[in-house]
Amino acid sequence: MSTHIGAEPGAIAPHVLMPGDPLRAKWIAETFLDAATGYNEVRGMLGFTGTWRGHRISVQGSGMGQPSFAIYANELFDQYDVQSVVRVGSCGALVEKVGVRDVILASGACTDSGMNRVRFHGLDYAPVADFGLLRAAYDAAQARDDVTAWTGLIFSGDQFYTPRPDLMEPMVEHGVLGVEMEASALYTLAAKYGRRALAICTVSDHMVTGEETTALERQETFSAMVEIALEAVTS
Ligand code: HPA
Repeated sequence: MSTHIGAEPGAIAPHVLMPGDPLRAKWIAETFLDAATGYNEVRGMLGFTGTWRGHRISVQGSGMGQPSFAIYANELFDQYDVQSVVRVGSCGALVEKVGVRDVILASGACTDSGMNRVRFHGLDYAPVADFGLLRAAYDAAQARDDVTAWTGLIFSGDQFYTPRPDLMEPMVEHGVLGVEMEASALYTLAAKYGRRALAICTVSDHMVTGEETTALERQETFSAMVEIALEAVTS
């Protein structure tokens, strides 16, 4: 096992979906995977491995925010030889054209986090998605009539309850579509380990209109997003 994941070597598949909520990981495993078994309960951050259309797939909870996400992503890449990670999460929409229930395929992730400032000695690094995964997810999303998908930048913020929401204005003026809390760490670590990564987010709340999704709507859109992620990672 690694420090935070209690899995035997080989128990985690080369392709991993990562929701923030560990109970979402359980739900994804029970709903989409065949013969899923749990491999981790350390700190309640549940992880499962099963198959989807014959492909071995794992689902691992990440927790919220880049520090938590990075603990699991580091260990998956470094100690379990994971080849691709697709984050399946939620985000807030920053622009009117993106509606609640829409899906954002994050081509890149801006951030206010200090993590990359330390890693890159104060220089600005541009964390981007794997193009192959992004293209496959785009194709999978375009093939569906139940999802409106946007491709573009998101912002990975450190603080859900930010004291400076006004700082999003220049981001919006430069094309950022939504805000979440993890993608920048995912893209940076995937690059470090030479692996593939993509973040897909359903819009759960709207920063401009104040609109929010119901629990049922979140569930339905979440299902579509998981199917897009599974198609992308196995393509
Ligand atoms: N901010 C940050 N992360 C989020 C949000 C938000 O509004 N909604 C869903 N994840």
